[in-house]
Amino acid sequence: MRKFLTTTAVTLTMMAGLAQAAENVEVLHWWTSGGEAAALDVLKKDLEGKGISWTDMPVAGGGGTEAMTVLRARVTAGNAPTAVQMLGFDILDWAKEGALGNLDDIAAKEGWDKVIPTALQQFSKYDGHWIAAPVNVHSTNWLWINKAALEKAGGKEPTNWDELVALLDNFKAQGITPVAHGGQPWQDATIFDAVVLSLGNDFYKQAFIDLDPAALSGDKMKEAFDRMAKLRTYVDDNFSGRDWNLASAMVIEGKAGVQFMGDWAKGEFIKAGKKPGSDFVCMRFPGTQGSVTFNSDQFAMFKVSDDKVPAQLQMASAIESPAFQSAFNVVKGSAPARTDVSDEAFDDCGKKAIKDLAEANTSGTLFGSMAHGHANPAAVKNAIYDVVTRAFNGELNSDEAVKELAAAVEGAK
Ligand code: GAL
Repeated sequence: MRKFLTTTAVTLTMMAGLAQAAENVEVLHWWTSGGEAAALDVLKKDLEGKGISWTDMPVAGGGGTEAMTVLRARVTAGNAPTAVQMLGFDILDWAKEGALGNLDDIAAKEGWDKVIPTALQQFSKYDGHWIAAPVNVHSTNWLWINKAALEKAGGKEPTNWDELVALLDNFKAQGITPVAHGGQPWQDATIFDAVVLSLGNDFYKQAFIDLDPAALSGDKMKEAFDRMAKLRTYVDDNFSGRDWNLASAMVIEGKAGVQFMGDWAKGEFIKAGKKPGSDFVCMRFPGTQGSVTFNSDQFAMFKVSDDKVPAQLQMASAIESPAFQSAFNVVKGSAPARTDVSDEAFDDCGKKAIKDLAEANTSGTLFGSMAHGHANPAAVKNAIYDVVTRAFNGELNSDEAVKELAAAVEGAK
């Protein structure tokens, strides 16, 4: 009897252990700022409500460069997380290596093909198979302006480059730091996305999607570097290395006038209790209205042991639920990854993001963000980062920068 009890107890403990293993997800991500963490919490709570526990693997560093380095080490050690926040071409690279799982059954059952736009599916599928669950759609060609500072500086929202420069001069005259910026390669590149786009849709496509050497080294690109050099004159002395969310805080607190940043910045404003329209203004980078440079955060699902697969699939299913898509993206500052989610719960900036995205998608003016891994694989992206950052820091003039850019891209292709 005693022996029986002991065996039963052992069996029960083992079963509990298995059940626990099956109901846990280990998630690697770089959502560590206030707004990002608040959004991630929506996902954690959603899964906890379904009985799935969450093992957190945060790797700080906007844009995810550091997270991708840590991931490589984990996978090399044979210890892949269940799910990893990932952008664009990085997902396809991991798929090519055969490291990702398969979400086809759940995708078919839930009809993902019909509601997730093709622009995202290009990165959620490899060889016809679903490998990642898209969470959202962000875009990089935005301006975030402190409303009170704008009023002080004349109140006019800039609609073209000259008006933007005039506004930045007005901020300066008012003793307000014109541009809140963090000097990190990915942040420099994020501004570069918008500056290049402001010189034309075709130009953006030729330069960053087609990697056309003539576009990369031509006069328009020189103009783009000139504009970057001009913007560089409006940042404060302490910009070097500053994290993007601290730059957002400068605008939130009215210490700076504007930040050029993707709409994850809105997550910081919302977290700080600020309201669009009255406390801050969101608008497209002057000259880019009607066009969108997008990036989509997706959870790439790694090949894991069989006992972990059910929780992994439940996580993917939870992410694609319309209710979750609304709740999460309202907090994150992004648009839903599905086309059938109502914009009702979203603020005016969110509604605009959703509308702009749909319009750009139909009019052929939706482009993958170079800065956030949706235009090219990491090797090319990093080659561009390097030249953009050196130019922004005054190590290259515009003539030198265009030559270096074309050469660096050619070498990385
Ligand atoms: C982007 C990502 C966003 C946000 C941002 C800053 O690459 O898509 O979700 O996290 O980095 O960390």
